[in-house]
Amino acid sequence: LIAPVILCGGGGTRLWPRSRTARPKPFLPLIGIETLFQQALSRTRNRSVFGAPVIVTGSAHLEHVERQADSAGISILVEPSARNTAAAIALAAHRLAPDRVMLVCPSDHHIADAAAFVAAAQQGASLAREGWLVSFGIHADRPETGFGYIRRGEPIASTGGFRIDRFVEKPDRTRAQAFLDEGGYDWNGGIFAFTAGRFLAELEAHRPDIAQVVARAVAEGTQSGDFFTPDAELFAAVPSESIDYAVMEKTDRAAVVPVDMGWSDIGNWQVLRDARTGDADGNRVLGRAELVDCRNVLVETDGPRVSVIGLEDVCIVVDGDEVLVTTVDGAQKVGKLAGAQNQSG
Ligand code: GDD
Ligand code: MG
Repeated sequence: LIAPVILCGGGGTRLWPRSRTARPKPFLPLIGIETLFQQALSRTRNRSVFGAPVIVTGSAHLEHVERQADSAGISILVEPSARNTAAAIALAAHRLAPDRVMLVCPSDHHIADAAAFVAAAQQGASLAREGWLVSFGIHADRPETGFGYIRRGEPIASTGGFRIDRFVEKPDRTRAQAFLDEGGYDWNGGIFAFTAGRFLAELEAHRPDIAQVVARAVAEGTQSGDFFTPDAELFAAVPSESIDYAVMEKTDRAAVVPVDMGWSDIGNWQVLRDARTGDADGNRVLGRAELVDCRNVLVETDGPRVSVIGLEDVCIVVDGDEVLVTTVDGAQKVGKLAGAQNQSG
């Protein structure tokens, strides 16, 4: 069985005021009634394909995890400090048998077609068993700079996967546009499949500094019930780097499985507006609101009634004592607002 490894770290200032430091994006019900974290768990619920999930999270988020996870068989790995995804994934790899296939699932995006996800995961798992580090390729349709770009190389015989020729994490706008113009590039969906042993070996080869300190922190760690915590002092000394820079850009054993599964990174309010289903005028309303002559307006309020007349392509979000009003184009700049940076909780 594939071991789902669910990553839920912090962040998400661009979805302020809903997302806050104490209540980050994975733990919010942004699309539908489940939170992104719960959706990540649900996607791997088929127990004939997936084993019990391993959750990797920061000590600050434990309360959310315990409240939102239905617990049967899960194990929870608690990071005493956030050291980014290379360390988080290495931590999980150490807790699994070396030949076990792990499917690393971030909890910051939406996947509309769960069946396509499971099929791709199984395809990725068979490549992983052959020693590949597998990424899942998403069709790139705009020069987004927040993603990894993957160039497809040779097909890998009869697997439906391809060698990765080149992996470039977060290129600038000019390079991203050049990749789109050149063609043959996918976005990295942030989901990975490999065996635990292969990942640790590649990390050791390319970033021994990260690999060795995580190994020591795990060796000195403590188990209590479902929870495992690596040694805090050692873990704090692990260099902070993402798997994309630490391993995927460097390894020559990377493969990609292209998948069309309605993937969307819930990066800002504009993306969220587009991911939600609109009414006849394209408006998306959550909470009490009255809209007159509005089109493609997103309103979300957790209390006060919001009344809007004659606006188009605007997002209005009311959360407690904070109100955000932005054009959809402005939504990318929300992280720059003082309110988003100076969060009260
Ligand atoms: N447990 C844990 N600990 N989780 C973490 C940590 C950490 O220290 N840091 C990040 N995460 C989780 C986040 O919650 C998220 O679910 C996932 O790991 C990815 O981290 P992000 O910080 O959101 O990465 P990104 O969006 O900048 O880039 C990654 O995802 C893109 C697709 O969404 C990269 O893999 C890109 O290449 C990719 O295109
Ligand atoms: Mg992300």
